[in-house]
Amino acid sequence: MEYTLTSLEDTSHFAKRLIEVLPRGAIIVLRGPLGAGKTTLVQALAAALGFSGRVTSPTYTLIHEYPTPSGLLVHVDAYRLDQSDTLFNLGLADYLDEAYLIAVEWGQPELFETCLEIQITPKEGFREVCITPHGALYANLPL
Ligand SMILES: Nc1ncnc2c1ncn2[C@@H]1O[C@H](COP(=O)(O)OP(=O)(O)O)[C@@H](O)[C@H]1O
Ligand SMILES: [Mg+2]
Repeated sequence: MEYTLTSLEDTSHFAKRLIEVLPRGAIIVLRGPLGAGKTTLVQALAAALGFSGRVTSPTYTLIHEYPTPSGLLVHVDAYRLDQSDTLFNLGLADYLDEAYLIAVEWGQPELFETCLEIQITPKEGFREVCITPHGALYANLPL
């Protein structure tokens, strides 16, 4: 599945659509180079969940939690993590039951039993989004 984002408004629409179709407790893994728009997508997801506060990159803190009106949004930045010791050392497993949505920047899809991988690739004047479901839970999302 591929999308093209040409503006922040497009990211916002894309986030709204994701929120409409994702199951409760979904895990999305965001990939793409620095500046691709991963954090921006998480900000748009938070807004789509009704959260009106500030959403910032958890680059140094690794995990941020946002109590949105729809439920808990967990935002992880795995950039500085040694992926081999897995995100679960951070206590992420504790969130799996509790969270409404978990978004992991720089994560590896293989770390999760099932997740939705969203790759954002900056191009000349737009961003290309490629969505890859891992596991049956995300196989038939109407995106
Ligand atoms: N769809 C978009 N249209 C225009 N600018 C965008 C879009 N998505 C992100 N940006 C801009 O790109 C910059 C980097 O975005 P950011 O989300 O911090 O990237 P990342 O988290 O992937 O490093 C920000 O200034 C942001 O406003
Ligand atoms: Mg970021």
